[in-house]
Amino acid sequence: MQQHQDERDQVPPDRDVAWMRRALELAARGRRPDANPRVGCVLVSPEGDLVAEGWHRGAGTLHAETDALSHAGDAARGATAYVTLEPCNHTGRTQPCAQALLEAGVARVVHAQSDPNPRAAGGAEVLRGHGVEVTSGVLDDEATALNRTWTHLVTTGRPWVTWKLASTLDGRSAAADGTSQWITGPVARDDVHTQRSRCGAVIVGTGTALTDDPRLTARRADGSLHEHQPLRVVVGERDLRPDARVLDDSAPTWHLRTRDPKEVLARLAEAEIHHVWLEGGPTMAAAFLAAGVVDEVIAYVAPVFLGRGRPSVGDLGITTMADALRLEPTDITVLGTDVRITAALKEIH
Ligand SMILES: NC(=O)c1ccc[n+]([C@@H]2O[C@H](COP(=O)([O-])OP(=O)(O)OC[C@H]3O[C@@H](n4cnc5c(N)ncnc54)[C@H](OP(=O)(O)O)[C@@H]3O)[C@@H](O)[C@H]2O)c1
Repeated sequence: MQQHQDERDQVPPDRDVAWMRRALELAARGRRPDANPRVGCVLVSPEGDLVAEGWHRGAGTLHAETDALSHAGDAARGATAYVTLEPCNHTGRTQPCAQALLEAGVARVVHAQSDPNPRAAGGAEVLRGHGVEVTSGVLDDEATALNRTWTHLVTTGRPWVTWKLASTLDGRSAAADGTSQWITGPVARDDVHTQRSRCGAVIVGTGTALTDDPRLTARRADGSLHEHQPLRVVVGERDLRPDARVLDDSAPTWHLRTRDPKEVLARLAEAEIHHVWLEGGPTMAAAFLAAGVVDEVIAYVAPVFLGRGRPSVGDLGITTMADALRLEPTDITVLGTDVRITAALKEIH
């Protein structure tokens, strides 16, 4: 183990970094909401020439390594494989990649992120045990960031939760009569739909479902559906109206008759969903915050005042400034007439 730590402390040669960057580009072509991580692989000859490239297109398809090997043929013998995630060592939907690399005669493997999944980890050890030179941790941070939500599910057992809110300057998420369409402008709303399309599930409470009758699909500005639709989840004990738009056939929908955020997330984890987009409303948001299961907030703030109306979030039991829930901003972007603030909830974990 010490030897591998020392290895990570060394600065990798420029060529290793350059090929790993290419492997990361390939990995990014994968489907974000897929149950599997996004992985890229580049095979390079001993002379330093590109042999083949591959990436993982989603559960049930070839892993990045076997995709690249399928294009390489005999040229894989003696090659170096650059892989963004440690080659897997378990037989799941496909055979172990460590085995496939050995059979192809690959001489060296350079990987970025070590596999955090205990069921699949150990590929690097298997390869080393068969005389393959293995270098670990090259561009580890970038690779881990690429699969941030998948890594979160694998290491914590629950999906990563992004709470989205749209708010006026005075912190209102709906007017006094319950209407909230629209607080933000078209550019921000378009961004919300793009973000939804990258998640495995979108959640609202029964309050929002009954008040707004949202479709919760991911749509483009012209109304057409994005290629990927998240699972639509309504949480709460009340019945939905039979003609609710969230029950249409444009995407699957679950109505979970519970008020326990952890139970909701456990159900989604069983379905291998690693990124949840929590759309509110204020009561659900407060329940998820109180349960300590919000990882990130994306707030769309509009230059609008309502004076009265629903606050963005329900009661958090905070009565003094010293107890304020302070987040760490990671991005601030102007979207048309609105501002999008992304912030992490580090302190409550
Ligand atoms: N601006 C925005 O970003 C935004 C986003 C969403 C909604 N909204 C606005 O928010 C308003 C609706 O607010 P809301 O707070 O009623 O909606 P909500 O948070 O979507 O739903 C609240 C309901 O969820 C159920 N629930 C589930 N888990 C719960 C828990 N742990 N604790 C308490 N209740 C739980 C309860 O209903 P049961 O009795 O059925 O269990 C509760 O009444 C609407 O006016 C909507 O337009 C604004």
